[in-house]
Amino acid sequence: MAAPVVDAGYLKEIDKARRDLRALIANKNCAPIMLRLAWHDAGTYDVNTKTGGPNGSIRTEEEYRHGSNNGLKIAIDLCEEVKAKHPKITYADLYQLAGVVAVEVTGGPTIDFVPGRKDSKVSPKEGRLPDAKQGAPHLRDIFYRMGLSDKDIVALSGGHTLGRAHPERSGFDGPWTKEPLKFDNSYFIEMLKGESEELLKLPTDKALLEDPEFRHYVELYAKDEDAFFRDYAVSHKALSELGFTPSSSGSKVDANNSTILAQSAVGVAVAAAVVILSYFYEVHRRIK
Ligand code: HEM
Repeated sequence: MAAPVVDAGYLKEIDKARRDLRALIANKNCAPIMLRLAWHDAGTYDVNTKTGGPNGSIRTEEEYRHGSNNGLKIAIDLCEEVKAKHPKITYADLYQLAGVVAVEVTGGPTIDFVPGRKDSKVSPKEGRLPDAKQGAPHLRDIFYRMGLSDKDIVALSGGHTLGRAHPERSGFDGPWTKEPLKFDNSYFIEMLKGESEELLKLPTDKALLEDPEFRHYVELYAKDEDAFFRDYAVSHKALSELGFTPSSSGSKVDANNSTILAQSAVGVAVAAAVVILSYFYEVHRRIK
């Protein structure tokens, strides 16, 4: 499918959709599942074959029926309400915008959002998302395939500050933190406290403690929430833009900006002409 034309009209719709998503997420308390939807649409990216990624393909039955996507149809249906009001916006942009808004409204960092993603209905084969029962080498295999780094792995795992696992969806149960609707660094703080009766730690979460390179970031983020927010915002943006080059949209926006610049230049020229003519008129009047 073709890339959307990111003109002033598209940007206006994005702004309205952002407001609608804020209201929807606040009303339905659905920030965690919206963030998970954005991550699962993007996290299929393969940097070598340039396939998968944030392209809205998770809306196809084939893909949302993948085992790792259990439960995400709920988020897809919720987004449909916003899509119906703003049909111009691509699903790919809508799901990533929902992820950005989910983090923002729960108190997390502001994540730069650049629109213009293309939609696709081509779903990658099942198995590109991480398996929670595995360890550090598996996490690296999966995230390096996306073109992401060790730091991205730990920062993005901090997304588990929100939400919980549901036995009927993943076989795991419970939240990672005491306030699963608040985006903060408590995921890392709880991790360092070790096993707890009521809080969840997946094998992949524990792998972050066992691997020295990962553990360095866990310790940093547990003691410095600002560092976590800064790195999370960068990693989330990278995840949301895998395989997406915003340049074409940028040039369209630039084209708009140059029109505005050209209009301003004409305005300045007209004003200057008026001043010069008034001056000559005044001089002429005085001579008479
Ligand atoms: C590092 C590898 C990861 C693994 C193995 C993993 C695995 C899981 C599992 C098993 C669940 C429970 C699903 C359920 O039962 O409802 C879950 C939930 C969740 N994941 Fe992850 N995840 C990973 C990374 C991420 C990332 C990168 C993000 C976002 C940046 C994220 C955001 C979430 C959220 C917000 C939930 C809660 C959803 C809800 O409450 O409905 N996860 N994840």
